[in-house]
Amino acid sequence: MSFGYRAKAMRATAIAAVLAAVGAPVMAEEITYVSGAVGKAVENFAALVKPWEEATGNTVKMVPMPASTTDQFAQYRLWLSAGTSDIDLYQTDVIWAPQLADHFVDLTEAAKDLAPTHFPSIIESQTVNGKLVALPIFTDAPALYYRKDLLDKYGVAVPKTWDELTAAAKTVMDGERAAGNPDFWGFVWQGNAYEGLTCDALEWVKSFGGGQIVEPDGTISINNEKAVKALETAKGWVGTISPEGVLSYQEEESRGVWQAGNAAFMRNWPYAYGLGNGDDSKVKGLFGVTTLPVGAEGDTSAATLGGWNVAVSKYSKHQEAAISLALYLAGPEAQKQRAINESNLPTIISLYDDPDIAAAQPIIPQWKDVFLNAVPRPSAPTLSHYNEVSSLFWSAVHDTLSGNGSAADNLAKLEADLTDLKGDGWK
Ligand code: GLC
Repeated sequence: MSFGYRAKAMRATAIAAVLAAVGAPVMAEEITYVSGAVGKAVENFAALVKPWEEATGNTVKMVPMPASTTDQFAQYRLWLSAGTSDIDLYQTDVIWAPQLADHFVDLTEAAKDLAPTHFPSIIESQTVNGKLVALPIFTDAPALYYRKDLLDKYGVAVPKTWDELTAAAKTVMDGERAAGNPDFWGFVWQGNAYEGLTCDALEWVKSFGGGQIVEPDGTISINNEKAVKALETAKGWVGTISPEGVLSYQEEESRGVWQAGNAAFMRNWPYAYGLGNGDDSKVKGLFGVTTLPVGAEGDTSAATLGGWNVAVSKYSKHQEAAISLALYLAGPEAQKQRAINESNLPTIISLYDDPDIAAAQPIIPQWKDVFLNAVPRPSAPTLSHYNEVSSLFWSAVHDTLSGNGSAADNLAKLEADLTDLKGDGWK
């Protein structure tokens, strides 16, 4: 299927050939694309866009951004509010659509054939007041990565509850340290004060039955005993099964410890699966993945819904070419390449039955149900306030983990701050 980009590309190529034949300058366009740089994203990008460049005669310049989604958001907001025309396409986090919608082109018409091939809930998450503000390029839901070889060595089962995880991590860590590896840790995750901590902590709270911070109907639910218990449990890991330094870890720092063979467990997104099985990884072939633990038997595991999209800037001077590139990146050819090379989860339904993807990255078909049941962050109900809501939440969590006030006090204060922010209703 062409979804428009090939047809347009062929037209452009034909026009270019005619212009070249008469000696007129060929109007190839350079599209500037900004994106976060985690894992192999930058390395793979040139190969990913090559088929589109060849088909259209255009080129793509990728401008890598900091790995932290929080830092990217701050920068993008500055550029967009200044109306910069230097950037044509933005790679956007799933949570940003309601806050940035006004700055992007409506893709409803351009994607009318492509959008119905994606999971409807993901298209819905990028639709704001009927406007399709971004096209999904991959979705995300985290896994608990565990060292199969070491669980076997110490006769420990794959943990189902957070308490079991705590005990298993300690057994393996004590054993590996006694065996001569002082750098070995039980559990690595994302404890830095940024959006990633919101994701991790939402999973702890929700899997203890403590709600979703702000519920889909806008109710502020975070100040409850189950949430307190979840945060106190996580605080107990810092300096015991997790290094003190975990309080400044993002995804890549935890992956660094894990891939060096220095952790029994890791919480991370699927991109770490392919990299962990790479030739330069010390854990190649030694690990498994499962769903994150629950608070207690009877509770449900929670995975925060993540994912990335592409949005065309309203201020771009190359909108037609940028839309063509967006359709290509969100289309089946690019999503398949990304799934195989970066173990990113596709958003196109049929790719979950693709044998090449299943063979290259077995986590992908296994993870379909996990992301379909993933917990959204409260970006839809809190509208333009999501970034402040998240930043108040991760700060309360980071304070608790750092020993700056008890979980109960910090969540009571958070509830008061969120109530102020909400005023007479989320807007
Ligand atoms: C992953 C997710 C994204 C999330 C981020 C947090 O990149 O896909 O949605 O905001 O992690 O660090």
